[in-house]
Amino acid sequence: MTGQQQAGRIAVVTGAARGIGFATAQRLAADGVHVVLTDVDGHVEEAAAAISRDQGGRAEARRLDVRDEAACEALIAGLPRVDVMVNNAGIFDVKRTEDLTPEDFRRMYDINLVGMFVLARAAARRMSASGRIVNIASRAYLGAVDYAHYVASKAAVVGLTRALALELAPRGILVNAVAPGVIDTPILAAWSDEARARLASVQPVGRLGRPEDIANMVAFLASPTTDFITGQVILVDGGRSLGGLTG
Ligand code: NAI
Repeated sequence: MTGQQQAGRIAVVTGAARGIGFATAQRLAADGVHVVLTDVDGHVEEAAAAISRDQGGRAEARRLDVRDEAACEALIAGLPRVDVMVNNAGIFDVKRTEDLTPEDFRRMYDINLVGMFVLARAAARRMSASGRIVNIASRAYLGAVDYAHYVASKAAVVGLTRALALELAPRGILVNAVAPGVIDTPILAAWSDEARARLASVQPVGRLGRPEDIANMVAFLASPTTDFITGQVILVDGGRSLGGLTG
C-alpha cells in the first residue's frame, strides 16, 4: 500500500501505547494514514509523538479506556472522519477455571469484547463505503487451557466480527479479525524467559511472533484496495494452529 492510496484516511487504534497496537499505528502511519492512537495508559502520548516525528505528523494521542462508553462515542464523534477502526486493546491473564470468578469473566469481556462492540458501532455510523474494521482476536479462540475467560472473550470477538461483517457488507464496510499466535509483547510478562523459550520452540516457524507480523496483516485488511474479504478470521501464528507438534 502506498502513501498515496491511503492519504487522507483516518484510523483509530486502541491499546496503541505499546505492543501490537503501537506496531499497527506505526505501520498505518507509514502507509500514509493519519492515526489516532488511543490507550488507557498515558504512555500513548510518547508513542504517538514518536510516530508523528517519523511520519510527518500523521499521529496523535488520546487517552481512552475502552470500558467508558461515553468517552468512546465522544472520541469517534469528534474526529473529522473515520475510515479505519482497529480494535486491539485487550487484557490477558492465567487462571485455572476452578479459581475463576464471574467477576474475572466480566472484566475480561468488558475490555476484550464490549469496548470493541461500542467502538465498532460508533465507527460504523461514521464510515463511508471504504470503511474497514479490524478486530484483534487470538489463536486462543480455538481453545486453550488455564484461561477460559480469555478464550471465551476471543471466541466472542470472532462471532462479533462475523455478525458485523454481514450487517455492514451492504454499505461497503468490511469487518475482519486477526488472530495472533504467540507474539512477543509485554502481555507475555507472566511468562518466564524459560517458558518463552519453550513456547518459541513449539512454533512451527521456530520463533515467537513479532508485533510487526500482526501489523502487516492489519494494514492489509485496513486498505481500501482489499475489498473482497469480510467476516474472516486470519490466523497469524507461524503455523501453530496447524497442530502436528507437541507441547
Ligand atoms: P499489550 O499488553 O502489550 O498491549 C495491550 C494494550 O492495551 C496496552 O497498551 C494496554 O494499556 C491497553 N489496554 C488494556 N486495557 C485497556 C482499556 N481498558 N482501555 C484501553 N486500552 C487498554 O498486549 P499485546 O500483546 O500488544 O496485545 C494486543 C492485542 O492482541 C490484545 O487484544 C491481545 O489479546 C491480542 N493478542 C496478543 C497475543 C500475544 O501473544 N501478544 C496473542 C493473541 C492475541
